[in-house]
Amino acid sequence: MNENTLNDAIANPQNLGEMSDADSIGTVGSPECGDMVRMWLKFKEENGRKTIDRASFQSFGCQTAIAVASMATEMLKGKTIDEARELSAEQMTGELGPLPPMKIHCGQLVEGALKNALDGGSTTQAPGDTQGLVSGPTLADSLRGPQTSGKIRIVKLDPNS
Ligand code: FES
Repeated sequence: MNENTLNDAIANPQNLGEMSDADSIGTVGSPECGDMVRMWLKFKEENGRKTIDRASFQSFGCQTAIAVASMATEMLKGKTIDEARELSAEQMTGELGPLPPMKIHCGQLVEGALKNALDGGSTTQAPGDTQGLVSGPTLADSLRGPQTSGKIRIVKLDPNS
């Protein structure tokens, strides 16, 4: 992993924050570490092709996920749905380079949020949900499912809750 690029991405993350006019929102959480990532997508039609115009994200609790999401949301601009769907967590790390084993799930969390948004995720968010998503019992409850040992499990979260 490229530490300088990682530090730059953490210090100056791209596309961080809620997107008020998003077409789709994907939210996932990791029961392993309790972190979560939400991604917003805005589409546009271009020459009869639907492409991603903009992507933004919020990540709670993990700097590596912030760095990967920053890279990924830049990478997504102009991609078709199919192209975006084919992006793997490894590809999304971009200039960060391969993540260390302990951090692989951070990239997978970003990939999960993207896939959730591409699969329809949600097109709405709860009224007043402008401060992020960590507060309230729902996230904790969502993440408190049965633990899997040694396996990464990504759970979809309802952004309306
Ligand atoms: Fe869990 Fe990074 S430590 S998402």
